[in-house]
Amino acid sequence: MQSGAATVRDYVQGLDYVAVLQPDLSPAWIDHVLRARGFASPRARADAFRHVDLGCGFGLTMLSLAAAYPESVCYGVDASSSQIDAAQRLADRAGLANARFVCARFGDAALAEAAGADYVVANGVYSWVAPATRRLFLDEVRRLRAPHGVAVVSHNLQAGWLALLTTQRLLSDAAAGDTASGFAAARGFLDAIAAAGRDPLIAGGAKAVAEMGQSYGEAYVAHEFLVGGWAPGWTVDLAAELAPLAYRGATYLDLLHDDFGLTKAQRAAVAAAPTAAAALSYRDIAHGRSHARAIFQAPDAAPAPTRLAGWIGLTAPAADVGYACVTPAGELDFDNALARRIVALLADGPVALEALHAAAGASSEAAFWRVIDALLASVQALPTDAPKPPEAVARLRAALAEAGLDLPYLPDRHGTPTRVSAPGGA
Ligand SMILES: C[S@@+](CC[C@H](N)C(=O)[O-])C[C@H]1O[C@@H](n2cnc3c(N)ncnc32)[C@H](O)[C@@H]1O
Repeated sequence: MQSGAATVRDYVQGLDYVAVLQPDLSPAWIDHVLRARGFASPRARADAFRHVDLGCGFGLTMLSLAAAYPESVCYGVDASSSQIDAAQRLADRAGLANARFVCARFGDAALAEAAGADYVVANGVYSWVAPATRRLFLDEVRRLRAPHGVAVVSHNLQAGWLALLTTQRLLSDAAAGDTASGFAAARGFLDAIAAAGRDPLIAGGAKAVAEMGQSYGEAYVAHEFLVGGWAPGWTVDLAAELAPLAYRGATYLDLLHDDFGLTKAQRAAVAAAPTAAAALSYRDIAHGRSHARAIFQAPDAAPAPTRLAGWIGLTAPAADVGYACVTPAGELDFDNALARRIVALLADGPVALEALHAAAGASSEAAFWRVIDALLASVQALPTDAPKPPEAVARLRAALAEAGLDLPYLPDRHGTPTRVSAPGGA
């Protein structure tokens, strides 16, 4: 008989994560959300910034930023030498001297070289590592962020994971060690229970896990929820851990307008919440998402002088734009003359929001932003910066192709892709 104690693991060993790029970790995207909430960008100059990706995996997010913004310095930090080596090879092939890598664990003194960052981002780390590592990770976020800087931390949300909690627990207890073979054995155990058909809770979970593996690969399943600290939580708890930094909302563009994200009754419930914590937790429940990337900034950050900074670009040809979409709150119809004028103005490529505003002739600020936010919510447009496709982007494109990395897109300015990549999770 084995000991009944659950194994305390830290992080998956010997199994690399999938190579993905997260466009919402780009300065253009983050700044757009900040300005929508009334706060200024941390960038003194649009093109020159320091960006740190903690737990960067294969580094595609920071590599594409380094290529698109040659004046920036982009750091990728990860404990996995195979992933950092692969990222370094891509940077070398693409000649990206401004892409720097630190192969180290959170808490290691070597990370200090990345300090003073305008942006510290981390996708798939906070809710996935063991508690002691999570504390070191949060210390790094605090240590590496410049006082004026922004932190974006992705986290798993309990409200969206309820149906899989029991399955994950069983899988986690069944996985011996942090190894690929341990995870494979746990999958076999789960599948055998599901095949026996006696436990409806597990059968549904096993099916969902199998579908996740088919869509994104087994490595994704292991990194998503077989790692030691897998703990879907609540936005309010992450915000409390990063206090005194102020929470500025998630990077989701379909939540920029409250009436896109919540129904009228849900907005009334938020307004009636007796505490700020209840309002935030109710939002988690109402949105029902399993994952979010949360933006934090110093509480005394300067207000945005205008929301009309930055650029916006269509993600598809103007002729293909649909003037209706489904948001979390329901159907959104924005088929009107102003929306069509704005799309026509964007037909030839990204446009500065200020110029777009001047040319669109909107009857009110609210009407203008409703169209812009609807285009963003439906991912038919994305925030970007002045297009200056540098040669480095072409070199990175070639290096990725040579490495056989099939990215759905590599945006020139990390914000005007032709398609948004899956998976949306960790
Ligand atoms: C789920 S993956 C996400 C990778 C990347 N951010 C992405 O979105 O593609 C989590 C990453 O965190 C790294 N990691 C886990 N624990 C770490 C630690 N203690 N120190 C540094 N990196 C760590 C892993 O090696 C892994 O690459």
